[in-house]
Amino acid sequence: MIGGGQLARMTHQAAIALGQTLRVLAVSADDPAAQVSPDVVIGAHTDLDALRRAADGADVLTFDHEHVPTELLEKLLADGVNVAPPPSALIHAQDKLVMRRRLEALDAPVPRFAAVAGPADVDAFAARVGAPLVVKTARGGYDGRGVTLARDVADARDAAERHLAAGAAVLVEEKVEMRRELAALVARSPFGQGAAWPVVQTVQRDGICVEAIAPAPNLDDDLKSAATQLGLRLAEELGVVGVLAVELFETVDGRLLVNELAMRPHNSGHWTMDGARTSQFEQHLRAVLDYPLGDTAPIAPVIVMANVLGAQQIPQISMDERLHHLFARMPDAKVHLYGKSERPGRKIGHVNIIGEATGSVDDDAYVVEVRERASRAAHWLSHAEWTDGWDPHDAH
Ligand SMILES: Nc1ncnc2c1ncn2[C@@H]1O[C@H](COP(=O)(O)OP(=O)(O)O)[C@@H](O)[C@H]1O
Ligand SMILES: [Mg+2]
Repeated sequence: MIGGGQLARMTHQAAIALGQTLRVLAVSADDPAAQVSPDVVIGAHTDLDALRRAADGADVLTFDHEHVPTELLEKLLADGVNVAPPPSALIHAQDKLVMRRRLEALDAPVPRFAAVAGPADVDAFAARVGAPLVVKTARGGYDGRGVTLARDVADARDAAERHLAAGAAVLVEEKVEMRRELAALVARSPFGQGAAWPVVQTVQRDGICVEAIAPAPNLDDDLKSAATQLGLRLAEELGVVGVLAVELFETVDGRLLVNELAMRPHNSGHWTMDGARTSQFEQHLRAVLDYPLGDTAPIAPVIVMANVLGAQQIPQISMDERLHHLFARMPDAKVHLYGKSERPGRKIGHVNIIGEATGSVDDDAYVVEVRERASRAAHWLSHAEWTDGWDPHDAH
C-alpha cells in the first residue's frame, strides 16, 4: 500500500486476518502504518524507484491516498505491476476537474462548475450561475485544504488568483444549498462483483469529516437507491478496483449531487470496522486481491462514528489515562487510535458506537442519543473533558 497513514494502518489490521502481510511505502518509520507493519519501505510516493521497491514481488499495489502521479503508475503497469485501482480510474479521485467532466459525460449529477484560467472566468461563471461560489484547486486537496467557500465574487477571484499564481489548476463551482452531506460506499472487484454498504450521513466541520451516521437517518427511499446505484455504476464505468467512496450533497430541493470520489477506504466508512459484517478495510483487500466480496450488512439499526481531532490545548493527562476513564464510563465504545502525535485539528483516531438492536434510525431522539455518546467519547479522548460535565468522583 502506497502511503503509511491511518488507512494503511487499519488495512494492515484487516490483512492479518486474511493471512496477508501489508507492505507499506511510508515517508517515515513513525508513520501510523509503518509503526505496525513488519514490511516497510521508506520513500516518497513521487519517487519511481521507491514505488518500484515497494511493488517488487507484491501481488497487488494499492493506495492509502490518491496522490501518486499517474505517469509513475503507468510505468509500474508497464513493469507488469498489478495496480488497483488502475491509474485510468484513480485519476478521477486525483483531479476534481477531470472528475467533474467525466461525471458530466456519464450523466451523473454534479454541481455546476467551470475551469478557471484567470479571474475573468470567475466573473463569467458568477454572471451565468448567480449563486455563491466555491473555488477549489483541482488536485492535492484533502480535509478542506484547497477549498474556499467564497464570501463574494471578489473573494472568489482572489482565491482563484492565489491558487493560479502557485501553479495550481483551479475550478469554480456553485455553492450548493444542501440539506446535508451523504456518502455512498461501495467496492468492486476485477471479476466485476460489486457490493454496497448503506448510504451514510457525514458531518464536516471546517472541511473535515467529524462524524458519520450509518445509515443516513430519514433518507428518502428513492434517494437511498439512487445513491447506491450511482456508486455501483460509477465503480463499474470508471473501472474502479477496491473501495469507492462517493461523497454526495443532498440539496434542499431533494436532489443528489456528487461532490468528490475517493478510491480507497474512506473516513465515511470507519463505522464498518465495528458496525458491519465486513469492514471497508477487509473489503478493499478482498477487492484488490479479487476474492469474492463480503457481506456489507450493518449489525445494528444505528451506528455512529466520531473522529478524534487533536485539541487546541493538548490535555495534561496522557492518552492512556484518558482511555482508562473512557472505558470505565462507556464499556461499549470502540476506539481506534492511529499512533499519531496530537496536534490541533489533526485526525488522531475515531470512536464507533453501536446502537441497541431495539433502536431505530428514523427515531430522531434515538439518533441524537447515539450521536451524543459518540461525540462525547471522541471529545473526551481529545480534550479530557466530558461535554456533559460528568465527574467520575460524583458517580461513585
Ligand atoms: N460546491 C460546494 N458547495 C457547498 N459546499 C461545498 C462545495 N464543495 C465543497 N464543499 C464543502 O467543503 C468540503 C470539502 O470539499 P471537498 O471538495 O470534498 O474537498 P476535500 O478534497 O478537501 O475533501 C465538503 O465536504 C463540503 O462540506
Ligand atoms: Mg471531500
